[in-house]
Amino acid sequence: MATTRNTVSSIIGSDIPRIDGPLKVTGVAKYAADHNLPGMLYAVPVCSTIANGFIKTLDTAAAEKMPGVKAIFRRENIGRFYRAAPNVDLTFHIDEKRPPFEDDTIRYHGQYVALAVATTLEQATAAADAVKVTYYEEKPDVRADLGVCDNLKVESERGDVKTAFAKAPVQIDQTYTTPPEAHAVIEAHASVAAWDGDTVTLYETSQAVAMQRIAISEMLGVPRENVRVITKFLGSGFGGKLWLWGHSLLTAAAARNLGQPVKLVITRKMMFATSGHRASTKQRIRLGATKDGKLNCLWHEYLNHTAILDEYKENCGEASGIIYSTPNARIANALVQCNVGSPTSMRGPGAVPGLYALESAMDELALKLNIDPVELRLRNDTLIDEQENVPFSSRHYKECLTVGAEKFGWAQRNPKVGSMKRDGLTLGWGMAGGSWIAYRFACELTIDLKHDGTARVTCGTQDIGTGTYTVLAQMISAKTGVSVGKVDVVLGDSMYPEGPTSGGSMATASLVPAVEDAMTKIVKKLCEIAVATKGTPFTGQKADDLHFTDGRIHLKDQDSATGTPYEEILKTANVNAASARGKSIAVSGVQPDKPKRSMHSFAAQFVEVTWQPETARLRVSRVVSVIDAGRIINKRTGTNQIQGAVVMGVGMALFERIAYDQRSGAPINSNLADYVLTTHADAPKIEVEFVEYPDLFLNQLGARGIGEIGLAGTAAAITAAVYHATGVRVRDLPVKIEDLIGSAASG
Ligand code: MOS
Repeated sequence: MATTRNTVSSIIGSDIPRIDGPLKVTGVAKYAADHNLPGMLYAVPVCSTIANGFIKTLDTAAAEKMPGVKAIFRRENIGRFYRAAPNVDLTFHIDEKRPPFEDDTIRYHGQYVALAVATTLEQATAAADAVKVTYYEEKPDVRADLGVCDNLKVESERGDVKTAFAKAPVQIDQTYTTPPEAHAVIEAHASVAAWDGDTVTLYETSQAVAMQRIAISEMLGVPRENVRVITKFLGSGFGGKLWLWGHSLLTAAAARNLGQPVKLVITRKMMFATSGHRASTKQRIRLGATKDGKLNCLWHEYLNHTAILDEYKENCGEASGIIYSTPNARIANALVQCNVGSPTSMRGPGAVPGLYALESAMDELALKLNIDPVELRLRNDTLIDEQENVPFSSRHYKECLTVGAEKFGWAQRNPKVGSMKRDGLTLGWGMAGGSWIAYRFACELTIDLKHDGTARVTCGTQDIGTGTYTVLAQMISAKTGVSVGKVDVVLGDSMYPEGPTSGGSMATASLVPAVEDAMTKIVKKLCEIAVATKGTPFTGQKADDLHFTDGRIHLKDQDSATGTPYEEILKTANVNAASARGKSIAVSGVQPDKPKRSMHSFAAQFVEVTWQPETARLRVSRVVSVIDAGRIINKRTGTNQIQGAVVMGVGMALFERIAYDQRSGAPINSNLADYVLTTHADAPKIEVEFVEYPDLFLNQLGARGIGEIGLAGTAAAITAAVYHATGVRVRDLPVKIEDLIGSAASG
C-alpha cells in the first residue's frame, strides 16, 4: 500500500528518466522491422533509374525463376490501390497522393516500379536486381536554383507593403536559399503486414497510427475496422513518418496476394527518394524600418520545390506574420514542381527555413541600422498577433531574448567583425529568434485505476522517442499519487482510443485535457462507490461532498492526508478498477468557451562559432537556447529535445544538403557518409533554459509542447555568428568552406 503520495508539484516538471529507456538499451523494445512472423516473406522494391520518362519494358521472367522467389509484383498483378481523397475526410493526410505502380510514367528517380518477394531477404534482393527495366527517358528537372519569385499566391497580407517598402528610410532586400534536407532518421522505414481473413495488421514505423490506419484503409480499399496499425517504438521520425508512404501499401498488397506475412524494410538509399524530405526553398525578404529600428514593412516571398503530382508547400511564412510588430506585411508563395519524390514535413516545417531567411534579414537590418540585434528584436516585440488581430495566449519572447543575452554574456560582444579572439581563434557571436505554432489535436484515451494500486493509461498515440510514455505516466501519477513505476502506459496501436499524431510538437498538449477529462469521470465514480459501499468511512454520505486529493478520498473539511486511499475503497467495494474514457477537442486558437487567442511558442538562440582562418576551420562552439513553451512536464526529456534540435540546427547551417545529379535526377549523396550530419564531435556546448509560463489557455497544465521550437532560428543564429567572425554573409545554406576562404577576416 502506497502511503506516501506524489503531488503535482513534485512530479510535473521533474527530470525522471524515460520509463521506456531500459527496454531500449536492453534490446527488448521491438521496432517495426524487429517483428518476425511465422511463414513471413521478404519484399524488396525495384526502383526506377531515371527521374523523368516512361517504362518501355519491364522484364520479370528471369527474376521469377530465381530460388525462393514467390512473386514479382508490378502494375499488372499487384491489385488495385485507390487514390486517397484527404480533402473529403480531413481526419487524415497524405503527401504522395499517387499510389505506387499506378501507371508507367516515371516522375522521380527511385520511384517504385516493381516488387520482388521471396523466402529470404537475400533472395528477394537478388530477384529485385534481376528485374530488367528499360525506359523512354526525358531530361529531368531537379534544378538547384528555383528561379525567380513570380506568379505568387498571397497567403496573408496587412497594410500596403509596396508603398511602405518604397518609403522606408532603411531597407533590406535579400534572397536566401535552403537546400533539400533529409530526415536521416536512424530507424529505416519498415512495414510488416499480416492478413487474417479480411483483416490486415501492419507493424509500421509511424508517427500517427490512428491516421495511418485511415490512410491505408482508403488506399487499399479495406474498411477501417479491418486495418490495424501497430508502432510501439520509433527510432525517431522528425516528420518523415507522419504520413503514409508507398512501401506500406506494397507490403500489405503483397501479403494479401500471397496469403503470407511480408516484411519490407526500405534501404537508406530509398529513404532519400521515396519517403519524403524537406523541400528546397528560395526566399526573398524585404524589410523596411525607421532609423530607430521600428519595422514598417515585412515582405516575405518564397518558392519551394515539390513533386510533379503533389502540392507540398513548405510553409515558410509560418512565423513571419506574427513574430514582429509591423503595420505592413505580406507573405506570398509559389510551388516549383520538379522530378523529385514528394517533400514532406520536417521538424518545424516551413517555420524553420522561413526563420532562417527572416532572422538573417533581421541581422542584416540591425547591422545597417547600427543597432544591436537583440535590441532590434526587443523594439519590434508585440503581445498582439497582428496577422489575426488577437492577443497571444502567452508570449514571452522578450524574456527569451533578455535571459539568453544574460546567460550568453552578450554584453561583452564587440560588434566589430573579426575583433573577438580566444586561444588564437577568432570568435563569432550571433543570435536569432524563433517561434512555432501551438495547437491541439482531438484525441481520446482511457484510464484505469486498479484496486491493487496500479494504474493504466491506454491511447492510440505513439512515442517517437521523445518521452510520450514518460510524460503520460507523470500526468497519471500527478493526478492519482500512484508512483510513475506503477503506471502502465499502453500506446502504439490503432485499436486503442484514437490518439494524437506525434507531430507539430502537439501530442503532449493534446493529451493533457484527455487525462483531465478521464480523471474527472473516475473521481466521480470513486466518490459514488465510496458512498454506496458499506464499510467505507463515507457510507451513506453525499458523493458531492467528497474530494479526491493525491489519490485519497476525503471530506471537504478533512485533512486530505488522513483520507482513504482510493484502492481501499475499491477493495471494500470489491471492484477491480475505476475506469473512464477521456476526450480532448482539437484547438487552433479558438476554444468554444474562451475568447480567441493566438498560441505560439518562442525561442531565442545565441551562438558562438570559432574560426581559424589559417586552416579554414569553422566550429560551432557554444549555444544558449532559451525557450518559452509553457510548462515543461519533464525537464530531462524537454532539455534533450532542445539539445537535439540545436544539433540538427548545426547540421542545417553547416552540413546538410541533398544533392541531385542534374543528368540522372538521382539524389547522389543518398547515404549517411555523403549526406553529412552533425556528429557528436561536431556538437557544441549547449545550454538550455526554459522560461516557464504555463499556457493555461491551451490546456490545464499549460504545456505547449516542444520539439520543433529548438530548431527555430538556430541556423540563422549560426550564420549571424559566422558573419561576425568572418565578415561573410552566407545566404545559401549550408555554409561552405569555399564561401569563407579569402574573407576579409581570414587574415
Ligand atoms: Mo514534426 S515535422 O511535426 O514530426
